[in-house]
Amino acid sequence: MNTLAKLRLHDLAPPQDDFLGAVLDGLGRPHKSLPCKFFYDEAGSALFDAICDTPEYYPTRTEIDILAAAAGEIADLAGRGGALVEYGSGSSRKTRLLLDALAPTVYMPIDISREHMLSACHTLAADYPALHLMAVCADYTRPLRLPTVARGGQRRLAFFPGSSIGNFAPLEALRFLKNVAQHLAADDGLLIGVDLKKDPAILNAAYNDAAGVTAAFNRNLLTRCNRELGADFDLDAFTHKAFYNQAAGRIEMHLESTREQAVHVGGRRFTFARGETIHTENSYKYQPDEFRHLATQAGFEPLRTWTDAQHLFGVLYLRRR
Ligand code: AVJ
Repeated sequence: MNTLAKLRLHDLAPPQDDFLGAVLDGLGRPHKSLPCKFFYDEAGSALFDAICDTPEYYPTRTEIDILAAAAGEIADLAGRGGALVEYGSGSSRKTRLLLDALAPTVYMPIDISREHMLSACHTLAADYPALHLMAVCADYTRPLRLPTVARGGQRRLAFFPGSSIGNFAPLEALRFLKNVAQHLAADDGLLIGVDLKKDPAILNAAYNDAAGVTAAFNRNLLTRCNRELGADFDLDAFTHKAFYNQAAGRIEMHLESTREQAVHVGGRRFTFARGETIHTENSYKYQPDEFRHLATQAGFEPLRTWTDAQHLFGVLYLRRR
C-alpha cells in the first residue's frame, strides 16, 4: 500500500530562521544570550536524544511511564477517533502511545524542521496504515493558524509533551496556551507535560549529568556558530554552567567564559570578561496548582493531573472551555 497517499504537507513556509541575526543581537546585549531553539541542528538533536538516556535526566522516561499508565483514561476524556494535533514532532514513542490508545483518524504534527517531521511521518504511515497524516511545517512559538482540513465535526486533542512549555517565560507560556485554545473548539482537550518544582539537587543533577552530555549539548551551540557563521569561538574557553534559580523557578543554562577574550562573528567583535556568561536556556518548573492557574487563565479547565510516585513530572488534561 502506498503510505504517501495518506500524507499531506501543509507548508506555512516559515521564513528561514535568521541564525546570524539572532547571534549578533544576543551577543550584543548587556547580558549576552542566545535563543535555545538553535540547539537543535542535527548534532544537537542527537545530543538531546542522548540526554534523555542519561540516568540523571528523569523527565522523558517519567513522562513516558505516566502516559503509558494513563493512556486509557486519556482516551476516555478525549474520546476515540478524532484528530491528534502535536506541537513539535520529536517524540515518536509518546505519539505512538496516544495513537494506540485513541486511534485518531488524523494525526497533525506541527514542526519547524520539515525533513525531520516528514521522515517521522513516513515511519508512522507505514505502521498506522489507516491514519491520515497532515504535517504542518511551522514555528509554533509564533501565533499560528492551523489548516481547517479534516475538521468535519471531529474532536481534536492537542498534545504538547516534554515540558517544552518550560522554555517559555510564564507570560509567553500564557500566550502560547491561548493560541492553542484558538486551535480547539469547546470541549476539545490539551494534553500537556510539565516538569514540576522539586528538590533543587534533583534538578541540578538533571542538567549536569556526570557523562557531560548536557555540557556537550550546550557547547554545540558554539560549534554551530563556528561552522555556520564562521565565528571563532575557542570551545575550550567556555564551560557549561546550569543551575536552578529558585526565585525565578527555572533552570538556567549558560556558557561561561573561562578567561578574558574576544570573539568574532559576522564582522563584529564581542569581548568577554572572565566569568561572563552567555545565557542559552531557561527551563521553567511549575507546581501543579501554579500550572493549573495558568491554564485556567488561558481558557482551559484542568480536568485531570497525573504524576509519578515521586512527583517529578506532571501530565495534565485540560479541557477547552
Ligand atoms: C526539551 C526544553 C524540555 O528544558 O529540560 C534538556 C531541554 N536542556 N537538557 C529541558 C534540555 C538541557 C529540555 N526541553
